[in-house]
Amino acid sequence: MIQVSGLVKQITDGHSNKSILDKLDFHLVAKQSVAISGDSGSGKSTLLNILAALDNADKGVVQVAGMTLNTMSEIQADQFRKKHLGIVFQQFNLIDCLSVWDNVTFPARLNGLPIGTYHNDLLDQLGLNAHKNKLPVNLSGGEQQRVAIARALSHQPSLVLADEPTGNLDDNNSQGVSELLFGLCKKLGLTLVVVTHSPKVAAFADSRLLLQQGRLHTLPNQPPNQISNFVSA
Ligand SMILES: Nc1ncnc2c1ncn2[C@@H]1O[C@H](COP(=O)(O)OP(=O)(O)O)[C@@H](O)[C@H]1O
Ligand SMILES: [Mg+2]
Repeated sequence: MIQVSGLVKQITDGHSNKSILDKLDFHLVAKQSVAISGDSGSGKSTLLNILAALDNADKGVVQVAGMTLNTMSEIQADQFRKKHLGIVFQQFNLIDCLSVWDNVTFPARLNGLPIGTYHNDLLDQLGLNAHKNKLPVNLSGGEQQRVAIARALSHQPSLVLADEPTGNLDDNNSQGVSELLFGLCKKLGLTLVVVTHSPKVAAFADSRLLLQQGRLHTLPNQPPNQISNFVSA
């Protein structure tokens, strides 16, 4: 699903160039999840933005869902994001003037997909049915992030990217939101990349990587977190 080789991303640091991603290789098989951690400023968001075709690599090849992102035009990148990507941000980024239902169904509408049972089921699974007609401002942080997850899955994208999805949540909500995000992606067979500071969140992923000095290092396997009763079979 994701094939990255020799990825270099440089930033200008005063008068010199600094590689924040330094000949990085990264592969992820479809339907798998990976958690990426690393110090603040290590380049995690930059890497996600490159995978989302929101930023360009300076060198290397980045392929997602069979498409080479480096060589895409802006229009192709827009189409790629619309059809293939679901993104969850730390700040929720819901559309304030739209109801929960309209936020959640928005990506499906953009893609001309039918709206219905699938979206109702998503809201059910995420415990949001009672909030369907509310505006985001009337929801708690945990609820808003669950809406953002439903929206990211609305059009059954090939790849779901989440940048610190629990960064604004307390421990309890963080656990619940993580279970739902990892559990729903597994159930729907979606590939998931989550950037997180939290080892508890990372424990839900199939594998864990550490971004350090521009390189990705594989972290040892650990007993996976159990995805319990949040996601029904
Ligand atoms: N557009 C940019 N121009 C200059 N520096 C940037 C830009 N984007 C990010 N950086 C710098 O690159 C480094 C990595 O940033 P980022 O990817 O946001 O790290 P992380 O998400 O791991 O905290 C930081 O030092 C940041 O200040
Ligand atoms: Mg970041």
